[in-house]
Amino acid sequence: MKRRDFIEKTLIGTAGITVGSSFSSLASSVNGANDKIALALIGAGGRGIGTIINTCKVNMNVVIKTICDVNDVKANKAIAEVEKELGYKPQHSREMKEVFNDKDIDAVWIATPEHWHALATVWACQAGKDVYVEKNPTVCIWEGRKIIEAAEKYNRIVQVGFQNRSAPYAFSARDYIQSGKLGEIVHVKSYNMLGGSKWEPQANTGIPNGLNWDAWLGPTPYIPYNPGIHDMEGRGGWGNFWAYSGGTLADDASHVLDLARLVLGDPGHPKSVYGCAGNYAWGSTKETPEFQSITFDYGKYAHTCESGSATNYMKKTPQHIRMDPTLFPDWRTNATRTEIYGTKGLMYLGRHGGGWQVKGEDSVLIAQDGGIFPDKEHQINFIESLRTRKKPNGDVEQGQLSATLVHLGNIAYRVGNKQLYFDGEKERFIGNNDANKLLKNSYREQYKIPEIV
Ligand SMILES: NC(=O)c1ccc[n+]([C@@H]2O[C@H](COP(=O)([O-])OP(=O)(O)OC[C@H]3O[C@@H](n4cnc5c(N)ncnc54)[C@H](O)[C@@H]3O)[C@@H](O)[C@H]2O)c1
Repeated sequence: MKRRDFIEKTLIGTAGITVGSSFSSLASSVNGANDKIALALIGAGGRGIGTIINTCKVNMNVVIKTICDVNDVKANKAIAEVEKELGYKPQHSREMKEVFNDKDIDAVWIATPEHWHALATVWACQAGKDVYVEKNPTVCIWEGRKIIEAAEKYNRIVQVGFQNRSAPYAFSARDYIQSGKLGEIVHVKSYNMLGGSKWEPQANTGIPNGLNWDAWLGPTPYIPYNPGIHDMEGRGGWGNFWAYSGGTLADDASHVLDLARLVLGDPGHPKSVYGCAGNYAWGSTKETPEFQSITFDYGKYAHTCESGSATNYMKKTPQHIRMDPTLFPDWRTNATRTEIYGTKGLMYLGRHGGGWQVKGEDSVLIAQDGGIFPDKEHQINFIESLRTRKKPNGDVEQGQLSATLVHLGNIAYRVGNKQLYFDGEKERFIGNNDANKLLKNSYREQYKIPEIV
């Protein structure tokens, strides 16, 4: 019997059998391709369950031991999904500390909303677990430094869910730019121009059965339950609140900005940010803006980002193009593209796949490379990193640099659409106390990330 068959038949069990305490793993020492890796999902919403199941499908000897969620409806649905897709039933946990205390678990997959990402990552590193943490990895700039420190101190692999960092077409775009064929880079424009409608606030209600609302809020101030923030079955609207995320900029523009940074050779922090944003399109009363235009000053060039939910005629790259490397989107109305202007040509770069094309005078095509949606590559890269102990493609240092662009853009808006100068070494604003107050959130006592991780 082949080793993989052996593991599947004897350790994982058949459908309906829980992966139980006899499950032994090689925590902290997963080296060879034959070593079994046990994962736990923390945050079993749509994104977490889909990606963790796929990770088990595209890698050998990877299993899900535990599904942890503070919402029983979502946890149960996720457990049923694992049983259907992978043929075994993982354990259920309502408290992530149980996952961290389980020495059979090698790595955790953190797919909660963003206000939990940094603390859960630090706790996981402290417990000796490797981490896949979804984007945006943080809700403020200070948190990013803490997860970098935790990964280094505890010698952990931490892969941020910026999956474009594993896209082969992103690497070929980077090579093309580095070869000098695009000339000197003079300007970069990233777009995240999504559709949307007026946001309507909802009234508070009682806490639904099966939800630990206090734990969902975690590090953030306690507030009454509101179905407009967390939905028992769907995603909910937490993305529209500063406490839990950072609007469409954190949700989707983070990907375009991160991909642009990668192909540009991963520049450090910009020298300044200017933001112009507001809720002028639909007149919503929500905290995060409906549309924002941001300019980052990198010295030799400016990188702009137009992001929001105000342009319904703009569309994300269609599914059939995402999965076909021979097709390219219509760049003019592609909602999630980046344009890189060199002295010798203009590169259009897609996200979600879509590849890249370089156009010259009269729109003549100079070069191109197709590409597909790179989730699978990122999942393979994570598991490889666990085995080789080499830094993953979505390492936290770059995750912090990309996430900081989101925070800079949002802070520029929150202090009144200002230009803010940033000291990248210290990760502090120069001469603006209001902006510096937004570098670090305040946390409830039992959910504090310590200064020294
Ligand atoms: N990389 C990508 O392309 C991509 C795509 C979609 C979403 N995401 C990210 O994935 C994350 C999850 O997104 P989603 O759409 O699945 O959101 P969701 O709200 O549907 O799911 C989040 C889950 O986390 C649970 N949760 C909250 N606090 C918890 C805690 N303390 N312990 C355990 N579980 C807890 C919630 O109950 C919920 O079930 C977000 O950060 C989002 O930005 C990334």
